[in-house]
Amino acid sequence: MKKLLIAGGCGFVGSCLVKLALKKKYKILNIDKLNYASRKLKISNKNYSFKKVNLGDVKKLEKIFNNFKPNYVINCAAESHVDRSIESPKVFFDSNTIGTVNLLYESIKYKNLRFLQISTDEVFGSLSKKQKKFDEKSKYKPNSPYSASKAAADHAVRSFGETYNLDYIITNSSNNFGPFQYPEKLIPVVINSLMNKAKIPIYGKGLNFRDWIYVEDHVDAILLCLEKGKSKNTYLIGANTELTNLELVKQIIKEYQKITKERENLNKLISFVEDRKSHDFRYAINNNKIRKTLKWRTKNNFRDNLIQTIKFYIKNKHIIKHFYSNDAWLKRKYTQK
Ligand code: TYD
Repeated sequence: MKKLLIAGGCGFVGSCLVKLALKKKYKILNIDKLNYASRKLKISNKNYSFKKVNLGDVKKLEKIFNNFKPNYVINCAAESHVDRSIESPKVFFDSNTIGTVNLLYESIKYKNLRFLQISTDEVFGSLSKKQKKFDEKSKYKPNSPYSASKAAADHAVRSFGETYNLDYIITNSSNNFGPFQYPEKLIPVVINSLMNKAKIPIYGKGLNFRDWIYVEDHVDAILLCLEKGKSKNTYLIGANTELTNLELVKQIIKEYQKITKERENLNKLISFVEDRKSHDFRYAINNNKIRKTLKWRTKNNFRDNLIQTIKFYIKNKHIIKHFYSNDAWLKRKYTQK
């Protein structure tokens, strides 16, 4: 049985990955520091274990690697919210960059270990409307502290491949969405506002483009890259779903009204607010490489995935409540006086 160490397996992408990897018969050790956005998973399976650890704790990390001796390491551990990175950049470099270096340092001690770094399209910076989508040859040009911390981590991964011959893969995905996403990201922010009939904050004019992928399609692609990807390669993961924020918000409102049979026109909740600093205009992914070389395909269409996501939050109101009750930042930002 292949042993897979997942760093950050209690986060949004990581927890979805843990569930899929368990189905695929890996023996999994999940390590997570359990930050504000994590959820301790209720999994009882002999092939799953969990250890609370901060990637800054190198002694503990060394012990964990020594005991588990992984064949694979997937790094999903990251502080991921751009707005928080603008307010507190240092924690992003500590967790995302130094944390990755510490994981790499342990990984090179094991022969034949494959390291998969989960990254983001944000490392490539911003596209104009006319520019071609990002592909595997795009240059790194990060604009926010978050994307810079991820870009630095990706460079560290590549350097460990060149210097210590680490077998690595880097995946850069577009914006994820789906059940259990922390309500600081656009889609759950909008759904939560609708459920509370509160204002929906849209930065600037809502004309920035994002390219959306369902989290289950993303983790499916990650495991495919882990198993079949070519060593020292990058794969871009996206689902060809480019929308302006305003188009997306209007679509969420439409689907929400259909699901809840709400008659009142909830478009009136849309509220344009001050723009984000260094707000990237457009992200878009060309997914040819993963589709052609690894035959990756998405499972369902965007609309069905969006409906599933809205229904999830309606059914699980306690999850958002729970996140709010433990997070002063969230309360400060989104609770209206
Ligand atoms: P977000 O979900 O934070 O992801 P990212 O910044 O990593 O792309 O934001 C997605 C887009 O939505 C981005 O253009 C910023 C915008 N946005 C809003 O307009 N209002 C909000 O409250 C949030 C959280 C984001």
